[in-house]
Amino acid sequence: MWVADMDFLSPPEVITALRARADHGVFGYTVPPATTIASAVDYLRDQHGVDAQPEHIVWFPGLVPALNVACRAFVPPGGEVITCTPVYPPFLSAPEFAGTALRKVELAEDHGVWDIDFDALEDAVTPQTALFILCNPHNPVGRVFTPQTVARLAEFCARHKLVMVSDEIHCDLVLDSVPHTSGLKFASAGGPPVVAMFAPSKTFNLAGLACAFLVIPDAATRRTFERAARGLITEVNAFGYTGCEAALRHGWRWRDELLGVLRTNRDHVEKFVAASLPGIRTWHVEATYLAWIDARGLALPDPVKFFAEHGVGLSDGTPFGAPSGFMRLNFGCPRQQLDKALDRMAAALRSR
Ligand SMILES: Cc1ncc(COP(=O)(O)O)c(C=O)c1O
Repeated sequence: MWVADMDFLSPPEVITALRARADHGVFGYTVPPATTIASAVDYLRDQHGVDAQPEHIVWFPGLVPALNVACRAFVPPGGEVITCTPVYPPFLSAPEFAGTALRKVELAEDHGVWDIDFDALEDAVTPQTALFILCNPHNPVGRVFTPQTVARLAEFCARHKLVMVSDEIHCDLVLDSVPHTSGLKFASAGGPPVVAMFAPSKTFNLAGLACAFLVIPDAATRRTFERAARGLITEVNAFGYTGCEAALRHGWRWRDELLGVLRTNRDHVEKFVAASLPGIRTWHVEATYLAWIDARGLALPDPVKFFAEHGVGLSDGTPFGAPSGFMRLNFGCPRQQLDKALDRMAAALRSR
């Protein structure tokens, strides 16, 4: 119940397209096909109301390498990065790997709702800060930041002359009736330079195809990013493009069905934790298939180890920048498997 992929087959349209690509039989060096580029442009317009030009798109073999390249590209020696914690661990390791300082600003939690702490952000930013990395929708707390919050973040970045990296990999997994707001909406004149990051990996369960795309509307920012990646980052592989295009063109009915399954699982996790896992707290998940769990009430020295010993593998919260005692549970799986995991957790607590 840990690593963030799902225990579901990908859409049949994707599997069929990959079979056809395999039958083609030629797997030489591959540039982004024009049809795949068009599918991304159409996707951004139709799903997210963003007008991207084909030349704004940078194809990449993953968002993790993109986060790492961004830290190398946009942060000069002695510069700093800001991000909001808890957060997906590569947000914290990418600045470290690039040798830049990282300022972590804790998300604020109020009556069960996670949000950006703008006062803390203003306190953290310095003249050395060059880059702000946003995770929206947020992994691990499952929050979809409001249009007002994203607008305020863009204003914050513009005012402090920060590049705004917006990792939107979970943007097509919004479970509630709330809008996802792309950072790209604020990339026009007066806004900050925006690097928005997308991939079909989470939504369509294609992470192993290693295909992602970034949208960097500002030409100078795009050049800076591409220069930092030159010679280091491989091309996307031929199957990645095929899978991405098939998903973006034909995967939406499958995705809608998936959202129904994930909503039911999410509701079940919330109810089960409240009713049957005393000492554990979780939060309402607006997007993603990941539940953030506070197990500090159990007063266990290592709750992840404890549950692993009882047959449930969860992600430890500490690499996300959380205090010890937090965990993440992946509910992107068939209900039977989720029931088995939750029942084992309840039995583990009864056995203490
Ligand atoms: C916020 C976020 N960004 C990026 C990734 C991984 O991206 P990729 O597989 O494209 O490197 C994940 C995977 O869990 C994620 O949650």
